[in-house]
Amino acid sequence: MKKTVTICFTNNKGGSGKSTTCSNIGAAMARKGLKVLLIDGDMQLNLSLSFFSEEEVLAMAQSEKNLYYGVTRQQDLTDYVVHTRYENLDLIPSSTLMSSIEYELFTKWQREFILRKCLQDLKSSGEYDYILIDAPPTLGGWVINILCASDYVIVPVEASPWGMFGLANMFDFLNDVQGMVPELSVLGIVVTKADARKGYYKQTVDTLREMEGIHLFESIIRVDSAVEWAQDSSAPVVEFKKSSRSAKEYTALTEEVIRNASR
Ligand SMILES: Nc1ncnc2c1ncn2[C@@H]1O[C@H](COP(=O)(O)OP(=O)(O)OP(=O)(O)O)[C@@H](O)[C@H]1O
Ligand SMILES: [Mg+2]
Repeated sequence: MKKTVTICFTNNKGGSGKSTTCSNIGAAMARKGLKVLLIDGDMQLNLSLSFFSEEEVLAMAQSEKNLYYGVTRQQDLTDYVVHTRYENLDLIPSSTLMSSIEYELFTKWQREFILRKCLQDLKSSGEYDYILIDAPPTLGGWVINILCASDYVIVPVEASPWGMFGLANMFDFLNDVQGMVPELSVLGIVVTKADARKGYYKQTVDTLREMEGIHLFESIIRVDSAVEWAQDSSAPVVEFKKSSRSAKEYTALTEEVIRNASR
C-alpha cells in the first residue's frame, strides 16, 4: 500500500506565497499521475479559489461540507473531500468560519492533535500519495494542529526586505512544535516572488543560504503576471499557462520536493 506523505506550507508573514505554492505543487504532482489531496486551512479561502470560482467557493463555505465542520465535529475528513476539475487532484475546502477555529478547539481534549486524528483514516487508506495543507499567516493553536498533522513543512519566503523579518521567530516556533512531534521535518525554504529586474532577491537567497541546517530549494519562483492571470481564472499556473516561466519553475520545484520528501 502507498504511504501518504503530508506536507504543510507555513509562514506567519502574510503574502509570502503559501497558497500559490501549495496549489501549484499539488497540481504539478497530479499532472505527474500522483494522487493529491489539498486541504485549505485558511479562512481567506485562497487555496479553494485556486480551483473553484468565487460562487462555488462561497457555496462550499456556506454548506457543511468544509474543513470547519469536519474538524469541529472531529470526524474522518473523507466525507469532506470534493473533486477538482483536474484528474488526481482533490480538495477539502475552507470556510470563513475558520476564523473562530482556535476558540472552538480551545477546550477540547488533546486539542493540538485534532486535525491529525481527523486525517488518520484518510492517511491509512493509502488513497493519496500526498496531502498538502495550506496554513494561514499566523502562529497559533490552529497552525500547531496543521503542523502536528504533517510529516514535512515547507516555508515559502518572499524575496523582499521584509520577507525575512520574523523568520527566526517562526523557526523557534517550528522547533517548539517539533518537541511535540519529533517526526515533523522542515523540508526547506522556497524563495518566491523574486524580481529579477530589481536583483534584490539575490540578497535574500544569500542570507537564506547561510541559515544552518535549513535546506534552501534550488528552484526560485520569480514574479510572473501569469500567476495572477491564472488565479483570476481559478486555476493554478501549471495548468493555466504551462509555457509560462512560473509554471516551469513550479514544475522544477515539485521535482525537488518529490525527491526530498521520502516516502
Ligand atoms: N510568482 C508570483 N508572481 C506574481 N505574483 C505572485 C507570485 N506568487 C504569488 N503572487 C501573488 O502574491 C500574493 C500573495 O500570494 P499568496 O496568496 O500565495 O501568499 P500567502 O502566503 O498564501 O498569503 P496569506 O499569508 O495571505 O495566506 C497573491 O496576490 C499572489 O497572486
Ligand atoms: Mg494563503
